Amino acid sequence: MRQIISACVALLLVSSSLLAADRPVAPNGIGFYPDYLSWKVIAPSYREDKGHIRIITGNDTAVAAMRAGKNPLPDGSVLAKVAWKAEKHPSFPVATEPGAFVQVEFMVKDSIKYKATGGWGFARFVGNELKPYGKDASFVGECFGCHIPVASNDYLYTKIVKTP
Ligand code: HEC
Repeated sequence: MRQIISACVALLLVSSSLLAADRPVAPNGIGFYPDYLSWKVIAPSYREDKGHIRIITGNDTAVAAMRAGKNPLPDGSVLAKVAWKAEKHPSFPVATEPGAFVQVEFMVKDSIKYKATGGWGFARFVGNELKPYGKDASFVGECFGCHIPVASNDYLYTKIVKTP
């Protein structure tokens, strides 16, 4: 019995390390964060030109700092932005609902490591196969470039939603 248990434990260890190895990694070394949908909601958003519904979430460090009105956010903060294709609800067409998954993006704060890009590391994982975006690490130029207009807000577009 003991041997069976230890064989099972060994199998579990091997499979969990395989899972970790399977986790996609962006060309700049930032790995996919599988928990992003259980983080707290910062805000929803809708991008008209792309027809995407998005939710922006943050890990505990990011959300606690945002709620406390801190800006810039501290090291260890991670924000995620997940996008779905916006579709008319089949039973109620004036309602719009999330359809196919499009992509998930991350911004990871490390003021030393990512000093050249405002303290933020960027990563994008596309489609159901979560394909890392970018041929090489230079893809971050595209991300950072478009976040520069909001440099005075720690390079962040999204503010935490207002609640009573
Ligand atoms: C053409 C402009 C543009 C580019 C390029 C861009 N972003 Fe953004 N990003 C935005 C805007 C605008 C928002 C605000 C929310 C929205 O669009 O739904 C945003 C929001 C975000 C957020 C949520 C935090 C925030 O600032 O609101 C993350 C995370 C993010 N982007 C990651 C990335 C990553 C990673 C890349 C590159 C792979 C990237 N972005 C490229 C415009 C851009």
